Amino acid sequence: MINFKSIKSICCIGAGYVGGPTMAVIADKCPNIIVHVVDINQERIDSWNNLDLSKLPVFEPGLADVISRVRNKNLFFSTKVAEFISKSELVFISVNTPTKKYGIGAGKASDISSLEECTRQVAKNASGHTIVVEKSTIPVKTAAAVKAILETSQNDNDLNKTFSVLSNPEFLAEGTAIKDLENPDRILIGGDDDDAINLLKDIYLNWVDKNKIITTNLWSSELSKLASNAFLAQRISSINSFSALCEETGANIDELKRAVGSDKRIGEYFLNAGPGFGGSCFQKDILNLTYLSEHFGLPEVAEYWEQVININNWQQYRIYKTVLNKLFGTLSNKKISIFGFAFKADTNDTRESPAIKICKYLLDESASIVIHDPRVNESNIDIDLNEYIKLKYSKWEVSSDYELAAKDSDGIIILTEWDIYKKIDWFKIEGLMRKPAWVFDTRKIIDPYVIKQTSLNFWQIGYGIN
Ligand SMILES: NC(=O)c1ccc[n+]([C@@H]2O[C@H](COP(=O)([O-])OP(=O)(O)OC[C@H]3O[C@@H](n4cnc5c(N)ncnc54)[C@H](O)[C@@H]3O)[C@@H](O)[C@H]2O)c1
Repeated sequence: MINFKSIKSICCIGAGYVGGPTMAVIADKCPNIIVHVVDINQERIDSWNNLDLSKLPVFEPGLADVISRVRNKNLFFSTKVAEFISKSELVFISVNTPTKKYGIGAGKASDISSLEECTRQVAKNASGHTIVVEKSTIPVKTAAAVKAILETSQNDNDLNKTFSVLSNPEFLAEGTAIKDLENPDRILIGGDDDDAINLLKDIYLNWVDKNKIITTNLWSSELSKLASNAFLAQRISSINSFSALCEETGANIDELKRAVGSDKRIGEYFLNAGPGFGGSCFQKDILNLTYLSEHFGLPEVAEYWEQVININNWQQYRIYKTVLNKLFGTLSNKKISIFGFAFKADTNDTRESPAIKICKYLLDESASIVIHDPRVNESNIDIDLNEYIKLKYSKWEVSSDYELAAKDSDGIIILTEWDIYKKIDWFKIEGLMRKPAWVFDTRKIIDPYVIKQTSLNFWQIGYGIN
């Protein structure tokens, strides 16, 4: 049983977009706690340890500053998973839980094999009492499996080896991760062991107001994370469905957003129309939710949430079709410039980015595309457009300069709302493009008044003027 009064040493398994920034902030706010972030991916750990802070594996505003304050003081990155499990009182599991690709539930259920593997490692290597915290987003009821695996360690004849299991889902959003971690809306802790809950709570109390810390049972906590992501994604699909209606009717999506969002019951946030949600979470978590709903005999619930994904896919298809129609129904022998490949601004993450699907549609139409993004590495784009590397007829390249990317282009599609695109000199771009040239603004970051002073044709999402 728990024989310590506070946590002095933490291990986090998984040095990704969640594990890295989350542990950096914990280390920064809790100088008395030693935090080890461990991962099986040597390259990733090397990047976290790189002296050049511009080479960290995750780009987040403010992250490099936090890392510079705590790295090698009370925050350490390493591949020694077993060693630091055994030296820690509390272990966060923050590994990836992607959509399952095989067997029953393929394409929908979450693949929790990495989480299971980590749990087995904890069962094997822990010593004394260990608090095991699910940080990854997982299907509701996963804690039952975690507990069952941890119990197998009792066969080790080490009677001092005991565990508490907590759920502590992460609500950070990429692009604002450090702000979200330093000033969270809430911290959610689910569990049935009050001592363990209080020890985890004490960590957060170093910087989070006690009224923001919500404690629940394990299943409410696990399910709340899926529910939160489902509600957020639903808002995006809702506003995107209205963007199409605005374009058909002459209504203006910004005016609609203001009118609808000023109703306090609805609220102003997450009402930006765009090319649809991306990132590693929303699609995966809603697919998982639909799978779970079916599993628990609730097909109507599954169908309801599936529609959120259908609208998201449709929005990307709709943008591609718009580009095709405006460019006279053919993209063959045309150059299209893609401005922004990350799934949103202020991150280098491209997982499930709308840009991937839209680029693939364009390449299937035989377009030549040139991609610019200020933070995404070419090697990531290689992975995302992998199958097109081999196809002879498809042509895509990456440019580190958006003006070069625009040269002789027939159309520019703005897919990520990076600040640099808000400052583009459209008079200069006008001189670079092949006429008649089009600019497609899927993020509503261009002032239509400015661009209409050029000879460029202009389409913007959610505007009836299109
Ligand atoms: N990215 C987000 O914005 C976000 C936000 C909230 C929650 N989440 C959830 O957090 C979890 C992690 O997401 P992420 O974006 O950080 O993933 P990620 O892919 O960036 O990082 C996961 C890391 O876990 C490591 N890993 C996998 N198996 C391992 C093992 N057996 N031992 C040691 N390391 C192992 C991988 O090498 C990888 O570096 C997921 O469940 C995700 O749904 C993500």
